[in-house]
Amino acid sequence: MNNAPIGVFDSGVGGLTCVKELTKLLPHEDIVYLGDTARVPYGTRSKETIARYTAQDMEFLRGHDVKMILVACGTASSVIMSSPEFSGKTEPVYSGVVIPAAHAACAATKNGKIGVIATGATIRSGSYGKVIRSIDPSAKVVGKACPMFVPLVENGYVGLDCPPTRFFAEEYLECMKREQVDTLILGCTHYPHLADVISDIMGEGVKLISSSAELARYAVKTLTFADELAEREETGSQKLYCTDSAELFAENVERFLGESFAGTVEKCDLY
Ligand code: DGL
Repeated sequence: MNNAPIGVFDSGVGGLTCVKELTKLLPHEDIVYLGDTARVPYGTRSKETIARYTAQDMEFLRGHDVKMILVACGTASSVIMSSPEFSGKTEPVYSGVVIPAAHAACAATKNGKIGVIATGATIRSGSYGKVIRSIDPSAKVVGKACPMFVPLVENGYVGLDCPPTRFFAEEYLECMKREQVDTLILGCTHYPHLADVISDIMGEGVKLISSSAELARYAVKTLTFADELAEREETGSQKLYCTDSAELFAENVERFLGESFAGTVEKCDLY
């Protein structure tokens, strides 16, 4: 048993998709979330810059005595995997979205053709492809960077019939349809907010894998196996931090976590 909070971070609102899933699966856990809203997006930046931001995000969560860090950002997860400064044993343990999502995709595909949509930095890193091929060397992986998706989500353009979102989604997903992928990884944690429009374009036969939801499921398994789940009767607390305006972030939180959100939102400084 461990009643310390679970730490979760992302560059912005994307990681809330992981928080949403986590609170469904583990309602008694306390959660500390960090959205680095002053520096979003990460996905258009260099590997060195993303690594520096990621290290600061993790340090912030360590300062809150979390028992586990969930890197609910595909971009940060991908950079961590290829940056030696993050390797080795760490306290507390951390996990990114890439490995859980790659495993889920390999289990789901029937024709062996897996699509990955993510930020430019994630696609350039080749992180998902490397893990997928290590699980199934015969899998065909089609990657596509979707740089307009993050700003669309951060600004609330997430509706099924939202014209700019539909325009970019059709453009980005064209290659996935052409290559006939039957499984599509939403490799950036902002993208589950666009699942309706993506699914509408790809059609019912294509299975969408939410990297956020897979990370949340992975956290459940890890904490259960290590006997580190919280033991309390009441619902866990949610403390959300952002690095830009708390008022602006709170609006997004309500939109994405629902009006039932009963946690706190506070601005913090990382640097
Ligand atoms: N949600 C993030 C990801 O999963 C970050 C997007 C960004 O900041 O560019 O990649």
